Amino acid sequence: KRLVVLVSGSGTNLQALLDAVAAQGVESFGAEIVAVGADREDIAGLERAERAGLPTFVCRVKDHASREDWDRALAEATAAYEPDLVVSAGFMKIVGKEFLARFGGRCVNTHPALLPSFPGAHGVRDALAYGAKVTGCTVHFVDDGVDTGPIIAQGVVEIRDEDDESALHERIKEVERTLLVDVVGRLARNGFSIEGRKVVIP
Ligand code: GRF
Repeated sequence: KRLVVLVSGSGTNLQALLDAVAAQGVESFGAEIVAVGADREDIAGLERAERAGLPTFVCRVKDHASREDWDRALAEATAAYEPDLVVSAGFMKIVGKEFLARFGGRCVNTHPALLPSFPGAHGVRDALAYGAKVTGCTVHFVDDGVDTGPIIAQGVVEIRDEDDESALHERIKEVERTLLVDVVGRLARNGFSIEGRKVVIP
């Protein structure tokens, strides 16, 4: 299977996928990463992709006349690599209609909270501020809402009294990387179906 990974930041989730493919080999992992896309330049995620010898593309909202134009450009840039699955790994933009028309049902996102609690851009901060005692991460399919698509897998992380946002996020990201690698590998190897809100991986 062919994967396009979308990133906006440090790209440690991308790195975990790259490492898993390198360690297990494309055959046994079930997929190869064919390109990495981003919504901004000069991020560590793109450097990781370049270091791995992968093609990259950048699609910035500000280079387009409208959000719809950006969405179409992102969909076209992604489609050029003919992915079977798209992985949004810390991609901090909400994709639009055109992107979903092409990749809906085969685009996976990772979110640093236990959805449906604490969706949005500040999942870690919001769980902490709420006083939750456990949080975690969720790997789910992308739909037209904000972190609302069918859930594939979740990992739990305890919140400690002394936690601040960055300490907690680091512990979540450790669980998140393992979860994402596991989910993407299983989806790629086994195939899947989405039945309402239920994701079935045979
Ligand atoms: C992850 O926790 C992701 O869920 C969140 O941003 C983080 C991205 O980390 N939205 P990285 O860029 O993969 O290191």
